[in-house]
Amino acid sequence: MTAPDFNALYAEHLAILCRRADEALIRSACDHLLIPSGSPHYHVFDDRDYPYAVNPHFKHWLPLTQVPDSWLLYTPGRRPQVIYLQPFDYWHAVPQAPQGWWVNHVDIHIIRKPEEALPLLPRNVARCAILGEAHGIPENYRPNNPIPALEYLHYHRAYKTSYELVLMREAQHIAARGHHAAERAFRGGGSEFDIHMAYCTATGQDAVEAPYRNIVALNAHGAILHYTRLDRDASSQAHSFLIDAGADRYGYASDITRTYAADIDNEFQAMIDAVDTVQIALGQAVRNGLDYRQLHLDAHLALAGVLKDFGILEASPGAALETGVSSVFFPHGIGHLLGLQVHDVAGFAANDQGGTIPRPDGHPFLRMTRTLEPGMVVTIEPGLYFIDLLLNELRQGPYADSVNWSRIEAFRAYGGIRIEDNIVCTTGASENLTRSAFAAFGS
Ligand code: GLY
Ligand code: MN
Ligand code: MN
Repeated sequence: MTAPDFNALYAEHLAILCRRADEALIRSACDHLLIPSGSPHYHVFDDRDYPYAVNPHFKHWLPLTQVPDSWLLYTPGRRPQVIYLQPFDYWHAVPQAPQGWWVNHVDIHIIRKPEEALPLLPRNVARCAILGEAHGIPENYRPNNPIPALEYLHYHRAYKTSYELVLMREAQHIAARGHHAAERAFRGGGSEFDIHMAYCTATGQDAVEAPYRNIVALNAHGAILHYTRLDRDASSQAHSFLIDAGADRYGYASDITRTYAADIDNEFQAMIDAVDTVQIALGQAVRNGLDYRQLHLDAHLALAGVLKDFGILEASPGAALETGVSSVFFPHGIGHLLGLQVHDVAGFAANDQGGTIPRPDGHPFLRMTRTLEPGMVVTIEPGLYFIDLLLNELRQGPYADSVNWSRIEAFRAYGGIRIEDNIVCTTGASENLTRSAFAAFGS
């Protein structure tokens, strides 16, 4: 495989961002786009800072995630200007001198103190669209976040450039290494914490660099959708393992979930395999023009079919969807847009001027309602869970008879199953980024 030509890819990416910015500036009646990278936040009454999280708009333009108090300035017709803070500081590691494929495409101004940015910013602040948060920004340049600019930029961010897709593929390969190591650690009897550490070691990324907190759940913990506690205790027998963990590549995320059974000959493994089959088919169904809401409803029907096959559901899959019984076992959305943020923006955007596409009634946790188009990257993450809270509600409600409670009891200790891949919508067949990366490991 030939190495990507990042110089050419970045040039094309930048040209696309410039065109989008031109339009966003017209729509907000501004002459300059100004994007602060953001400032560290501090714990209350303390001098410790929280892990720094860069402004996503800044990392859209530049592959920089650790350069606080810097700026990107774009004025139509001019090369982007990067005001890059590289302080004289012997307490902390400072950002390295600018290097990499991006430096020849922009004008770089090195500053040593945040206030040195001020003379480099446009004088006429009233004509600036400033995107970001107010924290740490000099008063005159507080972000105004014009709505027409944000609506436009967020909406179009769903369409990834070739450069972004290359970085997102790399984020898959890093995470695949971690998932491989995590499965080994699980089969070796590790605790949740041990597995998490094995994952971080294999990816070379620690918890604050990952795009979201790792979900490493043994046994019934798999039924807690965003379980992040990381038990240290490895003494109890692990029957099942759910891991939802990603990786970062120059600010782009992967978001991958796998579920394993300790005993690969048991019924839980068979259910994992059935969900896997559903998941692969849903990923293959991703195509230009498909309403993502339909995919979510199709997932409910297919997962209810699995419940039926395993003797858990007595009602028909259609009735289970209609009555909300399928949501007891699959109580989240089929997925979301992915990119600079793990739950990327504009999943509900009706168009690039605002407006919201509603979720289907009875599905309050779906994070994406747009119609799929080429260049979008979405997750496909069906799951089946045995969640006591929801099962108790079902048992006390009018549809208690639509399930077989003794069959549910047989699965409760396993917690749940989620399988999550990241999929690119193209003009033809979808591209499953995750399965390709896992295939490189022979898994
Ligand atoms: N990792 C969070 C999610 O899958 O949406
Ligand atoms: Mn996930
Ligand atoms: Mn996800």
